[in-house]
Amino acid sequence: MTHNILHLSGDNNDQWLLVHQDELILEALLEHGVAIKQACTNGVCGVCLTPLLKGEIDYADRIPRGLNEKEKQNGYFLPCIAKCKTAIRIGPPKVKLR
Ligand code: FES
Repeated sequence: MTHNILHLSGDNNDQWLLVHQDELILEALLEHGVAIKQACTNGVCGVCLTPLLKGEIDYADRIPRGLNEKEKQNGYFLPCIAKCKTAIRIGPPKVKLR
C-alpha cells in the first residue's frame, strides 16, 4: 500500500494527513474532518476548488470541467476527482462552509 502525505496549510494551524494513493483527496479531507464544501463530486461544479501549493495531483481520466483557465493558472484544483501523485501541500478550500 502506498500513501502520500497531504499537508494542509490552514489559516491558523496546519494538518498533515496520510492519503492512500487510490483515495480521492476530497474523501481524505472529509474523513479527517476538514471543512470542505462539495456538491457534484465529479469535477463539474467547482465548489470544492482548493489551492495546490506544492506537489502534483492526478485526475487520471477525469476532466476538471469546473475549473476555468484563470483558476488553473492560479494553482487551483478539484479535490473531488483528484488523487495525490506525490506528497502535496494545499491551502484552505476557496468556498467556506457556513
Ligand atoms: S464537488 Fe463539484 S467540482 Fe468538486
